[in-house]
Amino acid sequence: MRLFVAVNLPAAERRAAYEAAAPLRAARLPIKWVAEDSIHVTLRFLGEVDDAKAQPIGEALAAAVRAARPFDIMLGGVGAFPSLARPRVVWMGVERHPALELLANDVEKTLMDLDFEPELRPFHPHLTLGRAERSARPAALSGLEHLAAAIEYQGSIVVESVDLMQSVLAPKGATYTVLSRGALCGPGGGR
Ligand code: 2AM
Repeated sequence: MRLFVAVNLPAAERRAAYEAAAPLRAARLPIKWVAEDSIHVTLRFLGEVDDAKAQPIGEALAAAVRAARPFDIMLGGVGAFPSLARPRVVWMGVERHPALELLANDVEKTLMDLDFEPELRPFHPHLTLGRAERSARPAALSGLEHLAAAIEYQGSIVVESVDLMQSVLAPKGATYTVLSRGALCGPGGGR
């Protein structure tokens, strides 16, 4: 199964972020927009993993994050990878909070202990809002930069769990399911 590790958003904040991006979707650019329910912060993509490994991975992740304290992070700002001028992945920004970096490090360490190859790419926390269609010409996406700059949304979420997620690919877009949840139970946790 195809797995990744994510921070999921409370439904209300996820909706608010999705709604804030409505002007982008209304512009009918050649971009496939992520469904509201599928918006998340990826901490680590695992790729294809034996079904039998999902449970031990979930247990190890839960043990690794249990002692961490829940924390708030800010959301806001629309950008793109590699750039708004040549967008492939359109995202909403996620604050580079030290606690989030630590959490991503804990996840990375846990996975290395389970013999996963180290993640070599730097961690850029973001909420993927959409992905440019493969055939999209840069000129057809040229309106994005202006639209992105006009989105003034600022939100915040409390990070209180780390989830092991399954992704099932389909032509209409991937479906994501929470396989297991690791709660942050440090001081102030378990709210
Ligand atoms: P994203 O947060 O940038 O969208 C589930 O597919 C998640 O894993 C996606 O949200 C995506 O990150 C990430 N992902 C998918 N395929 C990936 C890949 N080949 N390498 C790294 N991350 C990937």
